[in-house]
Amino acid sequence: MVWDVLQDAIAARGSSALDVLDVLDVGGGTGGFAVPLAALRHRVTVIDPSPDALASLQRRADEVGVTVTATQGDAAGLLDVVGPGSADLVLCHGVLEHVEDVALAVAALAAVLRPGGTLSVLAANRNAVVVARAVAGHFAEARHALNDPDGRWGPADPLPRRFTETVLRDVLAAGGFRVQGVHGVRVVADLVPGALVDREPGAADALVELERLAAEHPELRAVATQLHILATTG
Ligand SMILES: C[S@@+](CC[C@H](N)C(=O)[O-])C[C@H]1O[C@@H](n2cnc3c(N)ncnc32)[C@H](O)[C@@H]1O
Repeated sequence: MVWDVLQDAIAARGSSALDVLDVLDVGGGTGGFAVPLAALRHRVTVIDPSPDALASLQRRADEVGVTVTATQGDAAGLLDVVGPGSADLVLCHGVLEHVEDVALAVAALAAVLRPGGTLSVLAANRNAVVVARAVAGHFAEARHALNDPDGRWGPADPLPRRFTETVLRDVLAAGGFRVQGVHGVRVVADLVPGALVDREPGAADALVELERLAAEHPELRAVATQLHILATTG
């Protein structure tokens, strides 16, 4: 789903399949997106603070036979590692939940993007955890997540922060970004018992199709596990 949206965004740039984009994957981890993008012949750089993740990324790139530049670094310090206005496409997937200062990180994302470039942000949705904790019978934790400014369900919550679409939009607007599109990722999939999907013939495909439609639905995506936003600075 996120991959399809990214592919469409690359195609919508009007560039031909032969164009090579400079892609910066901030917090790109083990290269789940970086390596397939490099396989499409884009020039991909991953910046991530985790040496272990970067080592796995390198192994994955080697297995596929592609080159990805891997650099240890932090979202807020992007300009220490890459030049301003140097990327056509910046990915920031599953990272804003972890950074120390969201505004600082978003400002750095804006600084490294070329005018007219695209930012792809994927972030955990506060509303989803409220529903997920409630469905699991953890009602106090669901209430905590609903009231907590960081959308955490309690002190044992492993995630430092979650967002709502409104908060994410505000944070991006404050950083000078203009939102081009919002998708919900896993609107119902994480709530459906796996046995139901495995038992019914055709259920998995039907669920994928439902997710595809629900992702675009403004009211349904409000409870999706993750929010995917495409934005530009131009
Ligand atoms: C949930 S993983 C996501 C990995 C990858 N983006 C993906 O979508 O598969 C979060 C990644 O963010 C990295 N990370 C954590 N804090 C960061 C920071 N301050 N700046 C950049 N990356 C960070 C972690 O090392 C980890 O690789």
